Amino acid sequence: MTRCDQTSAWAALAGHYASPHGVGLDLRERFAEDPDRATRFTLHAPEVTADLSKNLWDLATQRLLVELALARGLPAQRDALLRGDMVNATEGRAALHTALRAPPGTGPHSATVQRELDAMLAYAEQVRSEGAFTDVVHIGIGGSDLGPQMVTRALQPYAQDGPRLHFVSNLDGHHLAGVLARLDAARTLFIIGSKTFTTQETRANAEAARAWFTAQGGQDVARHFVAVTASPETARAFGITRTFAFEDWVGGRFSLWSTMGLPVAIAVGAANFRELLAGAHAMDMHFATAPLAANLPVQLGLLDVWYRNFHRLASRSIAPYHQGLARLPAYLQQLEMESNGKCVDAQGQPLTLATSPVVWGQAGTNGQHAFFQMLHQGSDVIPVEFILVRTPRFAGVDMDGPLGRQLAAQHTQLLANGLAQAQALMLGKTAEAAAAEAVPTAAPGMAPAVLAAHRTFPGNRPSTVLLLDELSPRALGALLALYEHRVFTSGAIWGINSFDQWGVELGKALCGALLPRLASGDVSGLDGSTAALLQRLRA
Ligand code: F6P
Repeated sequence: MTRCDQTSAWAALAGHYASPHGVGLDLRERFAEDPDRATRFTLHAPEVTADLSKNLWDLATQRLLVELALARGLPAQRDALLRGDMVNATEGRAALHTALRAPPGTGPHSATVQRELDAMLAYAEQVRSEGAFTDVVHIGIGGSDLGPQMVTRALQPYAQDGPRLHFVSNLDGHHLAGVLARLDAARTLFIIGSKTFTTQETRANAEAARAWFTAQGGQDVARHFVAVTASPETARAFGITRTFAFEDWVGGRFSLWSTMGLPVAIAVGAANFRELLAGAHAMDMHFATAPLAANLPVQLGLLDVWYRNFHRLASRSIAPYHQGLARLPAYLQQLEMESNGKCVDAQGQPLTLATSPVVWGQAGTNGQHAFFQMLHQGSDVIPVEFILVRTPRFAGVDMDGPLGRQLAAQHTQLLANGLAQAQALMLGKTAEAAAAEAVPTAAPGMAPAVLAAHRTFPGNRPSTVLLLDELSPRALGALLALYEHRVFTSGAIWGINSFDQWGVELGKALCGALLPRLASGDVSGLDGSTAALLQRLRA
């Protein structure tokens, strides 16, 4: 297949970028010329409505991007993914996270998926109904932490009748110690989540947790420790007898839909977990069947390519206006940067074009009081992705009482903030408008024109708004599947294998070699910097 930057669509996009459609496009003018721009660029996918109108593109750009997708065989690549072809060739496996949320009897490996899911959900319900555990500690890292943790937090209003959930990932013992300090061993369940069950951080924390449990007088390790893994025999060798399995064609960062969702299911119950899967499946169907021009994950992925390779924008900020989604930026960092942060294509050929952007962000409105200054007036243009949730859900709060009324009013303020930030990024403020404003306080003696320069906003800065009716399990499932397919889309255009992660291996190997040197002090053959630092650490 022709590499993306050698297609005629790519050349056409380069020409298009150099015209008033690209670098010359002014959003304010486009809205003035076209009163229907918002409607024209609003897409509806299951549970998610996306306003893409405040992006630096037009219908001609969209058409060329779809041509690029066709030149790269995106529909065929997508079908191969969903069919279970070996899309992850460097690890010799498929990437079948979509099979985990297919309804029973459909999708590849359905019998295996349903057997494993049913066993996990039955155990989750048992833990919830028996009530023997007040606290559940999930130990895992990367994909075996970020997804389950973020979803558990997002669905907290649905988790009123289950035990408390805690997540420990960091090798730094402060993380585990801080959690254990508050727990009663007799009433604590530990879930050890690791696809490989060889991960240093997870094994170390599991060892420490087991040592704490027995030191507290705990005896029944078999009842208090369970494992979720694609390698049950390794978990058993570690001393954990109750295991929940998933298959090796589930990538770590795509595993929350598998039995790795056990902490989520314990928190919110089996029915809500099935809703999460159903929402993701609805988005899978949209991705599989919607025409490319109306296919939301495809359009978002193509927009990412447009920004990265033509506008040369190096990062994207995620601004979820919902406290439940506070960990979404961290989750998306792994999803996008571990998937597409590569500089060779699937054939091992060097890629001479930019790939994954830096993905970062924080829950609104906190970000507004930290880094939004840079988004509005900094030297870099950074597309911002606002996630707004129309209806809040405050568990246990009487919405007709004083607290409920106050929280409802705050939610309206929250939405107004999100809308205003997107509006400000686009509209900006001219020096003339700034000069005409009355300023409450100003530095004495500063010329008005100088102050106005500081109060000017360039505007024309792009943003996307993703709108959910509520943060239900179904809507969250759809939102996360949307992101997965969007990352697949940009990876497919670039020709990347989005499902391996060799970039994390070198550091792991070097750590294994340095560990004994920290004990022995042997620095022979080390580079000068590492040797000097090692000696200082031992001093
Ligand atoms: O950091 C690399 C990685 O392999 C991730 O892809 C994965 O999610 C994480 O480590 C944890 O791996 P495991 O689930 O095998 O412990």
